[in-house]
Amino acid sequence: MSADYTGVRRVGNAIAKRLAEQKDTEGAKAIQSLLRKRGVPLQASGYAEALPRDAGSRLPLVEEGHWPTTPVMLGGEAGHIISQFIEDAQHIGLLAEKGVSARLGLLLYGPPGTGKTLLAGHIAASLKRPFYIARLDSLISSRLGETAKNIRGIFEFVPARNAVLLLDEMDAIAKVRDDRHELGELKRVVNTVLQGLDSLTDDVVTIGATNHPHLLDPAIFRRFPYKVELGLPDRDVRESLWLHFLFEGDTAHKGDASLLARVSDSLNGADIENIALAARRRTILAGHSPGLAQILLAVRDSRAGSPRLLDGRTLGTADKKNLTTLLHEKGDVSQADIARIVGVSRQMVHRYLKEATDG
Ligand SMILES: Nc1ncnc2c1ncn2[C@@H]1O[C@H](COP(=O)(O)OP(=O)(O)O)[C@@H](O)[C@H]1O
Ligand SMILES: [Mg+2]
Repeated sequence: MSADYTGVRRVGNAIAKRLAEQKDTEGAKAIQSLLRKRGVPLQASGYAEALPRDAGSRLPLVEEGHWPTTPVMLGGEAGHIISQFIEDAQHIGLLAEKGVSARLGLLLYGPPGTGKTLLAGHIAASLKRPFYIARLDSLISSRLGETAKNIRGIFEFVPARNAVLLLDEMDAIAKVRDDRHELGELKRVVNTVLQGLDSLTDDVVTIGATNHPHLLDPAIFRRFPYKVELGLPDRDVRESLWLHFLFEGDTAHKGDASLLARVSDSLNGADIENIALAARRRTILAGHSPGLAQILLAVRDSRAGSPRLLDGRTLGTADKKNLTTLLHEKGDVSQADIARIVGVSRQMVHRYLKEATDG
């Protein structure tokens, strides 16, 4: 009743858990999905949490993220460090008591679309803590002094709430200088971030995410003892991504997912998701699946960060030749299977491949 957001969540979760124990799965699920929706229960009651806002634009400086419902696929190394980080965060009280606590700062870095923001949400969910996202690129104000003020606003808002704070797009800080040719402002902003990070108590979890870790001020970099690089997904991760996003996890399609993984080596997770969802939209609206050949062509014509979505055109001769060479060189597919996927005879596959090598 006093709009204690965190409290509503905690009690709601306890009720959901009890319902689940009493085998009322429906009821438990209903409560959990309400809690996951950001702010719906309280907003519906007319309450909007007082988020700090930019003085000029009135846009909120921090938004509440929701706990993700889709899984995040990680390579081995990243997964290990993340589990360790979560374990340390869960037992920070004990670790502090023994004098071996670490600052709960985690830096996620790597190219765009590799799941950094998504992973941060998962960490908040595993820790069952509210999740706040501050996008540093959106805090940068053209008004002198305002950026530092915005950053102070975030750090003053979050710690009281036992939250996970994601400082997203951190490299934006470095751009303060480039945009304004004014070194004083950059220094002020960096110092404000440092002061903010240092003002946090031990139990606050801070996650920084950046596409360009080398642009970060070294002093800020050091404030994040845990570091995880999320690179472009490797073959196993790509296979899981295809299986999840295109085939909804149906392992009967493992073979196709594996083939798609082999030919999509330059793509990031977001690209794979985009192509897969486009294919599923076509399946629903056209009443039949676009077919593996169409999807493979879309993959072939995609680059990281600019996926080409399916266009439903029928394959021309050039497409068929392209696809044949792609499957032969990257896909490690037999000529019989190529013929089936591309929809031509085996003789034709043989001819295309010969033409390709003859140049
Ligand atoms: N490793 C991954 N596992 C699962 N989904 C992913 C992965 N990488 C990207 N995605 C998909 O792409 C979307 C965008 O990823 P995002 O977390 O915003 O990337 P980043 O923050 O690194 O730019 C995610 O919401 C998710 O649907
Ligand atoms: Mg992101």
